[in-house]
Amino acid sequence: MTGRVVWITGASSGIGRALALTLAKRGDRVAVSARSETGLQHLAEEAAGFAGSIHPYPLDITQPETCADTVDRIAGDLGDITLAVLNAGTHHPVEAHAFAASDFAKLININLIGTGNCLDPLLKRMIPAQKGHIAIVASVAGYRGLPTSAYYGASKAAQINLAESLKLDLYRYGIKLQLVNPGFVKTPLTDKNDFPMPFLMDVDEAAERMARGFDGRSFEITFPRRFAYLLKLLRLLPYRLYFPLVGRITRA
Ligand SMILES: NC(=O)c1ccc[n+]([C@@H]2O[C@H](COP(=O)([O-])OP(=O)(O)OC[C@H]3O[C@@H](n4cnc5c(N)ncnc54)[C@H](OP(=O)(O)O)[C@@H]3O)[C@@H](O)[C@H]2O)c1
Repeated sequence: MTGRVVWITGASSGIGRALALTLAKRGDRVAVSARSETGLQHLAEEAAGFAGSIHPYPLDITQPETCADTVDRIAGDLGDITLAVLNAGTHHPVEAHAFAASDFAKLININLIGTGNCLDPLLKRMIPAQKGHIAIVASVAGYRGLPTSAYYGASKAAQINLAESLKLDLYRYGIKLQLVNPGFVKTPLTDKNDFPMPFLMDVDEAAERMARGFDGRSFEITFPRRFAYLLKLLRLLPYRLYFPLVGRITRA
């Protein structure tokens, strides 16, 4: 046992699920949240015999009171949360002609406001204690605008800015704030994509990269590296070069 208590949201599938298993194998006690109770229960059973353990805390991150109650219950049952990975999220690709304010609000409510609903009770505990570690899972899709990504990209860009701002503010309280920006990782979320995904990464490899990143000092944890660096270069381009280039690449 490592003595760490880790809380992962969005752990019933994909990246969150793989990360929970990776950390429990390493000896962490992992509290897992998502809406699907059965998904979390199966996950907990899979960890039987691991050095650490997995504990289900079903939760809808769009409900602020439930988020606060969950943080209290985890602390009461397992001890203070040492690391919180705010990973729950969704994707809804949209063409401009189908843009709908209600769908936009729904996605922002999960990806962005949901992150805030989890941050609120975490910070209320961590700031007075002057310790803690939070990782926000955004995406390289938040670096710049991409086709069909108006809802998702906006939520991820906002998460990146949120993490940067909090990083600066939390420094003085001794709280570690990290930002995770994955490229394409094979999960149920990307299984819906009907276009070629460059450098698509296996989910267990992604979980491994995150686990290693949490032990390190870098603010940003991003993978696959080559894809992320390519997108970082695109981020530097002026609009007059960015739009024709990305338009041409993504139409291919
Ligand atoms: N896969 C990629 O290529 C990729 C790339 C960049 C960033 N990301 C980010 O990584 C995170 C995980 O994505 P993934 O690919 O692992 O997707 P996924 O397999 O679809 O998993 C999403 C998780 O979020 C949970 N979730 C969704 N809405 C929720 C809500 N309202 N309350 C609580 N939990 C909720 C889902 O569980 P329930 O449905 O049971 O609630 C599920 O456990 C997301 O933030 C995503 O934007 C993924």
